[in-house]
Amino acid sequence: NGQPTKAEIHADAPGPVYDKRIFTQFAEHLGNGIYGGLWVGKDSKIPNTNGFRNDVVSALRELSVPVIRWPGGCFADEYHWREGIGPQSQRPVKVNTHWGGVTEPNTVGTHEYFELLRQVGAEAYISGNVGDGSPREMAEWVEYMTAPAGSLADERAKNGHKEPWKVPAFGIGNELWGCGGNMRPEYAADVTRRYATFVKAPEGTRILKIASGANVDDYNWTETMMKVAAPVLDGLSLHYYTLPEGGWPPKADPVNFDETAWADTLHEAWRMDELITKHSAIMDKYDPDKRVFLAVDEWGAWYAQDPGTHPGFLRQQNTLRDALIAAINLDIFAKHADRVKMTAIAQMVNVLQAMILTDGDKMVLTPTYYVFDMYKPWQDATVLPIDIDTPTYTKGKYSLPAVSGSAVKGKDGRIHVGLSNADPEKTNTVTIKLDGVNAKTVGGRILTAPAINAHNTFDDPDAVKPASFSGARIKGGNLVVTLPAKSVVVLDLR
Ligand code: AHR
Repeated sequence: NGQPTKAEIHADAPGPVYDKRIFTQFAEHLGNGIYGGLWVGKDSKIPNTNGFRNDVVSALRELSVPVIRWPGGCFADEYHWREGIGPQSQRPVKVNTHWGGVTEPNTVGTHEYFELLRQVGAEAYISGNVGDGSPREMAEWVEYMTAPAGSLADERAKNGHKEPWKVPAFGIGNELWGCGGNMRPEYAADVTRRYATFVKAPEGTRILKIASGANVDDYNWTETMMKVAAPVLDGLSLHYYTLPEGGWPPKADPVNFDETAWADTLHEAWRMDELITKHSAIMDKYDPDKRVFLAVDEWGAWYAQDPGTHPGFLRQQNTLRDALIAAINLDIFAKHADRVKMTAIAQMVNVLQAMILTDGDKMVLTPTYYVFDMYKPWQDATVLPIDIDTPTYTKGKYSLPAVSGSAVKGKDGRIHVGLSNADPEKTNTVTIKLDGVNAKTVGGRILTAPAINAHNTFDDPDAVKPASFSGARIKGGNLVVTLPAKSVVVLDLR
């Protein structure tokens, strides 16, 4: 009956909360991430509410998106908020220098962003401009959004929003080591201290300040930031993209790949565990109480762009492989939930490892969307430690754990277990000892497909879709799961 995996869930020794902000989404002014994908304008034939397309918003509501990070990414460090307020027709048309050199109409600005948040039911995470903006510009943007009174509050009211908005999280620039200003860590840490000083929350409110963190394994960046800037911070970011086949620039085909590329990619996804472990160990030195959280606010697969699409638009198809990447990462975040309180997959719509793809009035949900949907009970749940003794899956020179998993006690009081099997050929029978669990029955959902590169298209939108799963049972204090090859399974114990 397939390969065996032994595991144990310690429900009697609950861990930290799996912060719902780990499910943050990222929407940058990039390709059709915003224009076309979210915003179509009030006069569009595509059904919309105040300019945002109804189909996409309703799919995002269904996903319980907790937070949307905006306006970048690299775009953020060239963004001037004043260009995105006031009558849309009078806003300056700029060039998006990072993403394809296309024009940026500034139609979606601060008010539109908060309207999107209102429609989706999400909270704000704004990336400020450190790169070519001033501390004063940043301070005034925060005041414009959050102040209950004063001339900036009056201006906000004149532009249509009397009540202050909430800005629970604010990024002090983005990738200051690169597109955010090519800074050295010592300089970036000082600049972060300076800019963070002027991000001020009105009385009785709080704005979490998140510094631009390391690129992949730049441990010196984390060390310097923590040493110099930790006192002014609430969070420090980390960016790590899953890049198979030869690294940067991304060359791998999003759809036409073989099993070696599958194994290579999933092996790269697992690297997140090592990166978080090592960055966390550095943070522990300066912040043993874990006051400063790690925000992995850009992660996901980055392949070559889809054929015929603009190289600057980072549009890529999304397959069953991406579903596995998502599940593996969400499990890794559970393991590190004491330090990782926020993550943002890149990006929400039409860009990189997206939840949703659109083309004109058409929309399709990706396999990654469905993993996020299946893992919804993890939002603000309590992590239950899980030990997994899995066989290794090997293809060519790539080896990785065959089975990944995590377990939580949801806010609904039930235990939810996520398991995925990276082996594209072999079933895996997972026997999980349940410590401190009284559940009698188990149900669940599975995401799988006949081919490793199965994906959803506008013509075939249901090729990869969750189905109900009956391959698990509880017997003699054990949860026994027959985990099909290349699958993601989420179980609900009652
Ligand atoms: O997500 C695309 C880009 O990747 C972001 O703008 C940048 O922060 C990162 O390099």
